[in-house]
Amino acid sequence: MDKKIDKIKEEIKCYHMKTYDDLETFRIKFLGKKKGVLTILFQELKKISLHKRKIFGKIINDLKKEVQKKIFNYKNDITNEKIIKYDPTIPGKSIKIGSIHPLSIIQNRMIDIFIKIGFTYVDGTEIEDDWHNFTALNIPIYHPSRDMQDTFFLQKNPDILLRTHTSSVQIRYMKKHRPPFRVLSIGKVYRNETISSHSNFMFHQAEGFYIDKKVSFSDLKQTIHYLITSFFGKARIRFRPSYFPFTEPSAEVDIYYNSGWLEIMGCGMIDPKVLKNVDIDSEIYSGFAFGLGIERLSLIIYNIKDIRMYFDNDVRFLRQFKSEF
Ligand code: PHE
Repeated sequence: MDKKIDKIKEEIKCYHMKTYDDLETFRIKFLGKKKGVLTILFQELKKISLHKRKIFGKIINDLKKEVQKKIFNYKNDITNEKIIKYDPTIPGKSIKIGSIHPLSIIQNRMIDIFIKIGFTYVDGTEIEDDWHNFTALNIPIYHPSRDMQDTFFLQKNPDILLRTHTSSVQIRYMKKHRPPFRVLSIGKVYRNETISSHSNFMFHQAEGFYIDKKVSFSDLKQTIHYLITSFFGKARIRFRPSYFPFTEPSAEVDIYYNSGWLEIMGCGMIDPKVLKNVDIDSEIYSGFAFGLGIERLSLIIYNIKDIRMYFDNDVRFLRQFKSEF
């Protein structure tokens, strides 16, 4: 009898239940009216001596309580679990949301600004051929930017390279579309160079261009002015005469920042030779183009000291930026 009871005790303790059905099976197995393990034991009690009956009666009764306790506890557990599953008022687990990269914030903002004045946004390709990146843009064969030191060539003869500027998008777009058009494109450009504020082989440029009848330098100035005031409200800028092979006249735009002038973009009227390369009649159409460094602009807007921070992927830095400013 002792051994039998120990076995039953162990069985009750280890019995595992998951569902209401399991619970019912457990109850019937031990307390079932006809064949329940404990029910039978109770019946067997009648056959033994009064003395033993008292001892075993208590033991079997304790087992019964054990079974009832287990049923009670499991019922609670199962009910609670069901409630957790179906209660719609329990708050969801919070999902951590990342933040938008400062360069993306500036890019998105820039797109918004230009969409408002009728520009179309297009993407370009980062891998270019010589014609789109240089030749069609009137960059002569001996121009230093073609040099192995400046340009990352992927292949020579025919030359395939990582674009050195987004101006190649001008060519791609103008070949396919007829004026009038206003286009903005933003993306990565690659140069093998180390200049003061960015010791980086890659940075982002925004390219804008507008071609129509009678587009003039004053349209260019007005557009740049609109761009700068959209970003900064009031800011001092200056146009400095400059040279680019694909614009004539050309200028660089500086912004007054931290008690000095900082160059942020190149621009100019698209050279008639470039228009000719893409079969646009420069007697009828004229246009302007500009190319702007996104990192530079972002440095000024967020007052960031070191351009490398954009690419270090340090979340303590990255999560400080909010989409609105
Ligand atoms: N592509 C030039 C650069 O990378 C910038 C530029 C674009 C200048 C368009 C004039 C017109 O420096």
